[in-house]
Formats: sequence, structure tokens, C-alpha cells
Amino acid sequence: MTHPPVCSYEGSDYQTSFWDQGGRQYEDRTEAIALKRLLPASGKLMLELGAGAGRNTPRYAGFERIVVLDYSRTQLEQAQQRLGVSDKYIYVAADVYRLPFVDGLFDGATMIRVLHHMADAPRALAQVRNAMQPGGVFILEFANKLHLKSILRYWLGKQKWSPFTLEPVEFVELNFDFHPRAVRQWLGGLGFKIERTLTLSHFRMGLLKRMVPTGVLVFSDSLFQWTGAWWQWTPSVFVRAVAQGGTSAADGFFKCPQCGGTALEESSGGLKCSGCGSRWEIRDGIYDFREPLK
Ligand SMILES: C[S@@+](CC[C@H](N)C(=O)[O-])C[C@H]1O[C@@H](n2cnc3c(N)ncnc32)[C@H](O)[C@@H]1O
Repeated sequence: MTHPPVCSYEGSDYQTSFWDQGGRQYEDRTEAIALKRLLPASGKLMLELGAGAGRNTPRYAGFERIVVLDYSRTQLEQAQQRLGVSDKYIYVAADVYRLPFVDGLFDGATMIRVLHHMADAPRALAQVRNAMQPGGVFILEFANKLHLKSILRYWLGKQKWSPFTLEPVEFVELNFDFHPRAVRQWLGGLGFKIERTLTLSHFRMGLLKRMVPTGVLVFSDSLFQWTGAWWQWTPSVFVRAVAQGGTSAADGFFKCPQCGGTALEESSGGLKCSGCGSRWEIRDGIYDFREPLK
């Protein structure tokens, strides 16, 4: 079976260049507010998809354990440095399109700033749905093609693609913006019920960010986030979706992404699938389900 391409962050200094030194305090703080509004107060097992260097992970502290998952091993190493090694965090290198977990395992999941790298978003979301228990809460952030700036650019003839049509737009290779209605349809079709929608980054404009104190912008954004229930014209949208139906995992944790088998046995620095014989590495506290060991 072929799999959609992965946008690689291996060796990237994304956390430092984009967040720590990239002037994105406003975006980071508005996300913290949105997560507080959308996250359940507590939970057992959270799946953080595309966790990167773990910028958001401490915000999920209400969960007993958190699977910190990313395709990039170097991102996970940075996350490990930030969060430390403990029973609370399980570090997993894996592809969102081939999740290595038994069905119905998680009561919480988040995917923040990751869907925009998905060439086949419905397929990725279907994987998340399978991994979730009935009643599990999934918080999804997506980049919005219907944002005010793109509408104005389209009307002024400065942008060819229409922000009003449902298909995703790939504005840079493996970087997609989505129409909010399309995302709602995908989630609904997979058996998620959207409970709440927040819009973020109403004031993401260089001039405003330079002229107005960050705290004022963050506070104003926090007031406007609620308007996401009625319209979504900002570059970033958060939804809280609840998994309907299905069954909780009776037992087990990992499954083999190669054959789907759930009998994985620990053997010399890895896990061995007794179904297909694939071996998956565990090194320095990181489970690696990207490619089987030779
Ligand atoms: C823009 S970063 C966001 C990181 C983090 N969620 C944050 O907001 O700080 C996107 C992350 O998604 C990961 N990613 C991209 N495609 C992936 C895939 N197919 N499976 C797993 N992770 C993926 C990248 O490695 C990268 O760390």
C-alpha cells in the first residue's frame, strides 16, 4: 500500500527559529487560551499527534499519560529534553497515516499545526478516529483557506485560487489550507461530533504585532475566539470534536503498523510482531514505528 508523503522536520530547528526567536508569542499565547477552553479538565491517555518539540505538551497536564508522537526523531529528542523522561510521557516516532495503536485506546487527542502538512487529510483523520474511545475528545487545529486576507487577495485579483471552494489549497509544497466546511464534513463522516469551534489569530498582522503590546492583542483575540461558533475568517481554527460510537480497547497498546497485528513482544531493544515478524526499534526511550528494523 502506498502512503502519502511526509513533510520532514528531521534536523529542523523549528522550535527555536519559528517559536523561540520568531516573534510568535502572540500566536503561542492565543493557542494556550484556546486549549484551556477546549481541553477536558482531566483524562487518562492523551495522544499528541505531530507534537514537534513538545511546545504544547505541558498544556495537557490534566491527563495522566501522554503519547508524544511525531514523525521526526530529532523533534522527539528535543521534546524529551524539554519534558524529561518519566512514566507520564511515551515518545513515539510514527506516521500519522499509519498509527501504531490498538483501536479505541485514547480518551484524548490533539493535532495542532499538523493537518496543514497532510496531502490526504481525511485519511489522517480516519487514523485518529480509529485510535479514539467512544466519548474521546479530539482537538484539531487547521489552517483556514477562507480567512479574510485570502478573500481580499482573491477579490483584488492578487491570488488565483478561490478561498470559497471546498478543496484544500497547497500554497507551498506539502503545506495546505482547508475550507472549514470541508473539515466539518470529514469529521462528521468519520463519526466525530463537533462540540465547539474557536477562531484564532484575528490580529496576526506584522504592523499590529509591532505597534500593540502582545498582552492587549492576546486579550482581544481571546474575546473574538468565541465568534468561531458563527463564522471562521481567521488563519487558524480550533475545533473540539467528540468521538461517537465504537468500542474502547479491551487490552493492548501498540499494534504493528505493517500488518495491524496486536501481539507485539519486547525483544532486545525493540518490539517484535508475532503476526508478520517485523521488528520495531526502541532506542533512548523512543519507540520507532516508521520503518521496521532489517
Ligand atoms: C508545524 S510542526 C508543529 C509542531 C507542534 N504541534 C507545535 O504546534 O509546536 C508540524 C509537526 O508535524 C510533524 N509531522 C508532519 N507530518 C507528519 C506525519 N505524517 N506523521 C507524524 N508527524 C508528522 C512534523 O515532524 C512536525 O514536528
